[in-house]
Amino acid sequence: MKCKKGIILAGGTGSRLYPLTISVNKQLMPIYDKPAIYYPLSVLMLAGIDEILIISTPHDIQGMKSLLKDGNHFGLKITYKVQDKPRGLPEAFTLGEEFIDNEPVAMILGDNFFYGHGLSSTLLRAATDVTKANIFLYSVKDPSAYGVAKLNSQGDAMLDVIEKPKTYISPWAVTGLYFFPPDICEKAKNLEPSERGELEITDLIREYIKEDKVDINCFNRGYVWFDVGSPDALLQASNFVEVIQNRQDILISSPEEIAWRMGMIKKTEYIDLIKNMPTSTYRNSLQQTLEQ
Ligand code: TTP
Repeated sequence: MKCKKGIILAGGTGSRLYPLTISVNKQLMPIYDKPAIYYPLSVLMLAGIDEILIISTPHDIQGMKSLLKDGNHFGLKITYKVQDKPRGLPEAFTLGEEFIDNEPVAMILGDNFFYGHGLSSTLLRAATDVTKANIFLYSVKDPSAYGVAKLNSQGDAMLDVIEKPKTYISPWAVTGLYFFPPDICEKAKNLEPSERGELEITDLIREYIKEDKVDINCFNRGYVWFDVGSPDALLQASNFVEVIQNRQDILISSPEEIAWRMGMIKKTEYIDLIKNMPTSTYRNSLQQTLEQ
């Protein structure tokens, strides 16, 4: 069954970014020339997903709404839901049960950044027929800060997943992008909090491993993945976007441009969107896409 729905989990406490996050939600901070949430939103759009649920805190949901509205201008249908406390990532699927409505769903964390050659085709493929959990892995230098995948000897199947392992398992960190079949809501409901008192996405993935229903996508060296949860990562992601955009005269993760290129809005609508923007480097870059 094709995946047409996606959730962006954009709440959290953002404690590692203190004091930046006292009054501004992490996913509303800039990654160079765009709010951070544009990047995960673009990932969902590139997967062909046009029905999107944004989950955020009671304090920040209004900021998300004024930024993205009902999504119609991007050819999307965006709705919102409040998570009153950050009880863990699997809560996306209990809060989102009505939205998911027994269909496959993608979930992406609001602070995640993906970029690389072939990303769009990988995403479209992943969304085509979601009968298993589809997990995206990225090889990192220090995996101990992440959920880490234990793979089989061929490196093409996941045997286990361990949250912040104390001993080395593999370099494969579980990124914040997942596709799940419709039974995800039932599985999420039955989950118990871990010792740290949170619902863990790794426990949810383990349920699918038990049923032999996990596909993995290993992002190789041609890809970039950040979670922009620390000041260093936020700066590195900004610098990365600045270098690529200005060197190649392209835009990374512009929802307007993606909406146009994916056929979610008409060219005339795209032109109108650009016309109605204030003069800015962002507007100039969008204008440039029409001339390229
Ligand atoms: P984390 O980086 O685990 O948590 P955080 O954003 O609160 O930051 P910190 O660790 O610095 O305190 O969260 C990953 C993403 O998921 C982030 O975009 C926030 C979001 N999130 C929720 O929306 N709800 C939750 O219950 C959790 C745990 C995270």
